[in-house]
Amino acid sequence: MKYFLDSAKMDEIRYAYETFGIDGVTTNPRHIMLSGKPFLTAITDIANWIAAEGLEGYERFPVSVEINPHIDNADEMIAEAEKISAISSNFVIKIPATEAGVTAARKLEKRGIRTNVTLIFSAAQAILPAKNGSKFVSPFIGWKEANGEDCKEYIRNIVEIYKNYGFYGKTEIICAAIRTPKQITDCAVAGADIVTTGLEVYKDSMKHAYTTQGIGTFVNAWDNTATE
Ligand code: E4P
Repeated sequence: MKYFLDSAKMDEIRYAYETFGIDGVTTNPRHIMLSGKPFLTAITDIANWIAAEGLEGYERFPVSVEINPHIDNADEMIAEAEKISAISSNFVIKIPATEAGVTAARKLEKRGIRTNVTLIFSAAQAILPAKNGSKFVSPFIGWKEANGEDCKEYIRNIVEIYKNYGFYGKTEIICAAIRTPKQITDCAVAGADIVTTGLEVYKDSMKHAYTTQGIGTFVNAWDNTATE
């Protein structure tokens, strides 16, 4: 399973790569805003860091960059996507799961521009992007579970549909808006290819009260044992 960092902050991206060996980055307009930088500066800074690390190419380290969310027609989506993708070979273009969005994504994929169809909230929305060859789909988890829905079946259904029709592994499933380590586990059990979340959730996923307690027990034993 791959781990992507959901952030446009360079300090977080560097930390997550050095510490957890993340496999890619996802951004969205909110993450770009939280970086405190203008849009082009924020994504160019990520592209420059990738080049400095020698990670060029979306196959090695994909970075999802979302188009201007005001755009609601396919031709303008394509024009915007072409401009963004020209900045870095790592950029995958995030496009909303709408009729215009899947039209644009299909045409972009034919031109060799990889796409991530985002804002997916039902298994049905995940089918057309896969039929049309999108590299990634992003079903959102946290937003649904915050409203009382359990997402295990929703992800299992997408995985099963993809297996039924040969999409599995070709269109990679990014479980997005992950808020808890349990949601990471649920997505892994269901067979999702990727999770994307913020740094704190990855840090939390390595914490357990019994691990802390166990270290305390062993420190105590160590301190009460002669070395020789
Ligand atoms: C995923 O690709 C999105 O960037 C992200 O998960 C959206 O949710 P959030 O910004 O609420 O975490």
